[in-house]
Amino acid sequence: MATVDAGKRVLSGMRPTGRLHLGHLHGVIKNWVKLQHEYDCFFFVADWHALTTHYGDSHIFENNILEMVVDWLAAGVNPGSASVFVQSHVPEHAELHLLLSMLTPLGWLERVPSYKDQQERLHEKELDTYGFLGYPLLQAADILIYRAGYVPVGADQVAHVELTREVARRFNHMYGRDAGYEELALAAIKKLGKKGAKLYSNLKKAYQEQGDHEALLKGQALLQEQQNISLGDRERLLGYLEGGGKIILAEPSALLTPAAKMPGLDGQKMSKSYENTISLREPIELIANKIKKMPTDPARIRLTDVGDPKKCPVWQLHEVYSDEETKLWVAGGCTTAEIGCLECKNPLIGSIVAELEPIQKRAEEYEKDPDIVRSIILEGGEAARDEARVTLNDVRVAMGLTNW
Ligand code: TRP
Ligand code: SF4
Repeated sequence: MATVDAGKRVLSGMRPTGRLHLGHLHGVIKNWVKLQHEYDCFFFVADWHALTTHYGDSHIFENNILEMVVDWLAAGVNPGSASVFVQSHVPEHAELHLLLSMLTPLGWLERVPSYKDQQERLHEKELDTYGFLGYPLLQAADILIYRAGYVPVGADQVAHVELTREVARRFNHMYGRDAGYEELALAAIKKLGKKGAKLYSNLKKAYQEQGDHEALLKGQALLQEQQNISLGDRERLLGYLEGGGKIILAEPSALLTPAAKMPGLDGQKMSKSYENTISLREPIELIANKIKKMPTDPARIRLTDVGDPKKCPVWQLHEVYSDEETKLWVAGGCTTAEIGCLECKNPLIGSIVAELEPIQKRAEEYEKDPDIVRSIILEGGEAARDEARVTLNDVRVAMGLTNW
């Protein structure tokens, strides 16, 4: 049984929507770039997930995948620190999805809020499919196959991480009890020494009888510290502490990405479907134009009319991009009509251009040589497969599938 420290692994995926915009950069990618220095990260393109809704136009995926990964890399995702890959290059996700489907009650999937929501929202598409119902379970397989401890996602995805936890728990409960599990666990406790065994038993009791979460954490720490127990015993005791079987699939936690504060050009959330975006590869000369055309406080018709930043989408961009001094200048100048709206927009144009110029330079390099991008993706896939195979092997053994 192989172990990884799930606490150190981060996994996240994105469907191949093509080029990214400032909303993705501020909401998702900057977070990934930060996490890649602190954790063992796996970032992948969820092409099978895209297939659940876009099975009719999957020919667009290849280009979308390359465009999106170019943006990831240009924005600072570093293939030296994180494995960057495409879901369908790692067939182990699909095998785990299949195996998990055997023990996942239909009701768990039908209850996921995004299921009915999306079916209603995308009603022009036929989404009464087997694949679409399985969307969150495929996501569970994505996460569990790497034994990821943390999954950075937006609020709309939290229910999927919750389902992942339930599926892992059910799996461990069903398959984590090998023959003589109880006896083996009791024997392993003895190996903790007199003091350790007593402490372990007390913590186990406090957690299981009083739901004392602190005690669970202390118990886990106690086991991590033990130098002289085998990996198998450690896994067994970690499971026994929680009252379940051996932990084969680690339960992940969602790392909630703060709700994207990135406003679009019209003050609504930045999103491709609202046509209010600035893409990462927006030609520099068009950026100024787009900002200059932004609507402002409708009460400021003439330069002499005072305005209220709270009623102005431009102010929301200042909240993202401007320092305190600039914001004071805007608030003071707007409410007294001392500055004009075009003047107010200037520092924003400067900040956005300064942010995007280096990204665009890097993107150009990759555009010139898409083979580099392909080989980063292929290598990332190989590294991911090495990890995925280990988990899948443990799963097969636990389920009693022949493993010759
Ligand atoms: N469903 C996610 C989304 O739409 C994408 C995704 C697929 C994902 N598999 C994942 C995210 C695993 C995190 C972990 O955004
Ligand atoms: Fe908006 Fe700035 Fe004009 Fe005020 S001065 S209305 S904040 S653009």
